[in-house]
Amino acid sequence: MYLKKLELINYRNYSKVNLDFGKDTILIIGNNGNGKTNLLESIHYLSTGKSHRTYTQDEIIKWGSKQSWIRAIVGSDGVSPVNHLIEIEMRKDNETRIKVDKTTRRKKTDFVSILPTVIFSPDDLKIIKDGPSERRNFLDSLLEKIDSSYYRQRLQYQKILAQRNSLIKSADKSAGSKIDREINLTLEAWDSNLVKYGSSVIKKRYELLDEIRPEFKDYMENFFKGVSADIFYVFSWNRKNMPDSFENESSGNYQDVEIQDEDNSVVGSMERNLEEVFYRKLRENIDKDMQYKITTIGPHRDDFVILLNGKNLRFFGSQGQQRVASICLRLCELDILKEKIKEDPVLLLDDVFSELDIERKKMLVKAVKNKFQTFITATNMSYLDKLDMEFGSKLLVMDNGITPLDL
Ligand SMILES: Nc1ncnc2c1ncn2[C@@H]1O[C@H](COP(=O)(O)OP(=O)(O)OP(=O)(O)O)[C@@H](O)[C@H]1O
Ligand SMILES: [Mg+2]
Repeated sequence: MYLKKLELINYRNYSKVNLDFGKDTILIIGNNGNGKTNLLESIHYLSTGKSHRTYTQDEIIKWGSKQSWIRAIVGSDGVSPVNHLIEIEMRKDNETRIKVDKTTRRKKTDFVSILPTVIFSPDDLKIIKDGPSERRNFLDSLLEKIDSSYYRQRLQYQKILAQRNSLIKSADKSAGSKIDREINLTLEAWDSNLVKYGSSVIKKRYELLDEIRPEFKDYMENFFKGVSADIFYVFSWNRKNMPDSFENESSGNYQDVEIQDEDNSVVGSMERNLEEVFYRKLRENIDKDMQYKITTIGPHRDDFVILLNGKNLRFFGSQGQQRVASICLRLCELDILKEKIKEDPVLLLDDVFSELDIERKKMLVKAVKNKFQTFITATNMSYLDKLDMEFGSKLLVMDNGITPLDL
């Protein structure tokens, strides 16, 4: 699939934009603050039903307007070409209507796989540098694209978690950290459900990361010759035990570190032991939960760690190394999407080159060149000439409008 036509009405800084695209590489040039990211955001929205940079939909609607529209024709060519008309109407107060071929789609999960996209954004650095929620979000967003039941399972888990947290919060303060017998019984009943849904969330994230791992290592070790890279899942119950440096460990041990529980016994098979370990950890930490008035164990506290030469990249990596790691995660996302949904994704590269040195710019170009329809934004063309790229079209973003440039 690729994006053939795009119409934006009252979307961010655009009053009205009408564009046609080929299945090639499209360069979007413009000065800071002129609307390049806004354009890519609209294509991402078309793909996922949400923005990659805001949870508040009202932000997207052009200032002073009440509604905003994205209309697009996406399709494939070949002997039996397919075309779909996707229409998204956004109103104030987060109301969204999505139609595919004039038929209303009530659930976002119904349409997310029509035009798969992978967006490489400057904000991706947050996945590496910020707290664990950004990393969980990376895994969750990818799982939502490839597994239609994942979103509901996670939602279910979050509902039970919210109930558990409010029960803990309402517990009698005078009881201190010691848990009341009655509350304990109610918690016990909820915990088995929490473990049921939570374990399937953990398992899916864990397996996804396991699939990503060899490719991620390859990409990283290709970008940085002579280094060793690794990535692994960290369960909530192991987070406090995580060292920042793994210098003296052999790389094979990393997987063990994460699946050891406190007695250092290795949780052998995920299938068999995960629910049991999760339940046990929940119960063991119940006094702590009462003390902090929050559930401290579960997938809502899981994380993953990236190592470069045995050191935690989050704390010890340079800005360029962290940037490359975020790009490698996106390249893995691309590979996984391609494999799982058997549909060509569209690549959205927002200002990805600016922080990379020339060697790594070239490597990134090589990794993505001429494979899929690709949108690339840049503020100027100075370094693009050195990168051996071919553009099907060039667009200039200026004065709240978009105009084609001669090639
Ligand atoms: N809801 C909105 N209505 C109107 N304009 C908006 C809205 N939201 C954002 N903008 C404007 O959009 C512009 C930002 O656009 P965008 O982030 O796409 O720029 P950019 O070309 O990617 O810039 P940079 O090169 O700095 O990344 C800002 O000038 C901002 O004021
Ligand atoms: Mg931008």
